Amino acid sequence: MDTVEKYQRYVTTSFVASIEPVVFDHAHGATVVTTDGKEYIDCFAGIAVSNAGHRHPKVIEAAKAQMDKLVHAGTYIYHVPVVADLAEKLAEITPGRLQKTFFGNSGAEGIETALRLAKAFTGKSEFISLTHSFHGRTVATLSITGNVQRKTHGGPYLPGVAFAPAPYVYRNPFGSDDPEEVADHCAEMVEWAIKYQSAGSIAAFIAEPVMGEGGIIVPPASYFRKVKEVLDRHGILFIADEVQSGFGRTGKMFAIEHFGVEPDILVMAKGIADGFPLSATTARAEIADSFQPGEHLSTFGGNPVSCAAALANIDVLLGEDLPGQAATKGNQVMAQMREMANEHELIGDVRGLGLMIGVELVTDRAKKTPAKQQAGAIRAFSREAGVLIGVGGQEGNVLRIQPPLTISESELERALDVIGQGLTKVK
Ligand SMILES: Cc1ncc(COP(=O)(O)O)c(C=O)c1O
Repeated sequence: MDTVEKYQRYVTTSFVASIEPVVFDHAHGATVVTTDGKEYIDCFAGIAVSNAGHRHPKVIEAAKAQMDKLVHAGTYIYHVPVVADLAEKLAEITPGRLQKTFFGNSGAEGIETALRLAKAFTGKSEFISLTHSFHGRTVATLSITGNVQRKTHGGPYLPGVAFAPAPYVYRNPFGSDDPEEVADHCAEMVEWAIKYQSAGSIAAFIAEPVMGEGGIIVPPASYFRKVKEVLDRHGILFIADEVQSGFGRTGKMFAIEHFGVEPDILVMAKGIADGFPLSATTARAEIADSFQPGEHLSTFGGNPVSCAAALANIDVLLGEDLPGQAATKGNQVMAQMREMANEHELIGDVRGLGLMIGVELVTDRAKKTPAKQQAGAIRAFSREAGVLIGVGGQEGNVLRIQPPLTISESELERALDVIGQGLTKVK
């Protein structure tokens, strides 16, 4: 029985049926190689995870050294140096007064921790989230997820969640495509949700500084400042979900740094350890200290090998200026995609920050009719031609380009060329 058959028989997945299976054998940098020797340029990085490139030698070396010493300790009953070192490092690199970290294993676990922490600190229980958002696949994280396509067969969901409109300039319900007007409207809608959709017990507002699964939605520059004013007036915490946007991807270490506001709690995972499983929920000390002894634990959380990998990964990201590289390469990709929009009617919008890029496809530019089937066809075509890209957006019509930040210019050229061929083919 080959790997694909074994998956079909023994592995629980919800793979997209229309995508031809590929079986990965090994990877390095932005290259993934299958068991039959075919090479792919990876423009999705295992869903925005391998920011420093697959198997960066310094990350692997640090993980191996830790494996030779200690693999597991149960870091909530015992102390381990590398865990303390990583927590100290995160306090240093995260914005503002963020200081103390709870370590878990996945993005969803990190978000769950943030929700519990916000409740414990405020003594309140409601949340405000955004339409189009995605925060994970557990019941609580799906409850605060606004992208309804991700919520099928998961309900009933938790009460006490209100949704304000995403600051989605290309498709906003207010009719204006002026980013500042969209920011004003959307911030006002946060206040509206507080006034008219809650029972007066809101613990926190949660948002992705750049929305990932929702189709790479970049809020207008002033949006978070305006929202923060509203939150401060009402004594509501701000949780930044940087699970996807963190660790250099957007051109800064954390995407919220583009917007000039300080979150109260910041959640990290994906890119934190270049592929080793780890999440971090970092909060101001007085918020973090609101957990009582024994109140919140995670057996594998803060695994020493993952923490060693994360420390090395952060060194690599900063040492090689990968956020700077992401900004430069991302601007080049977006400029090229905008040029391609002149000859490809399918391209409705090109947007992003750094190497977190979305290309929204539409069959009719005036009506902005989502081109879902075409987006899927271009992903399939690119895969066949040796380039891995993602698809996202609530309507499944946004191509996602989120490669390792180390990807070379020639690899990006080749990938864009293939996407261009795909656009020609499916138009
Ligand atoms: C913004 C955001 N939050 C949370 C999650 C959940 O992370 P995980 O799949 O590691 O649980 C994701 C995953 O895609 C995400 O993009």
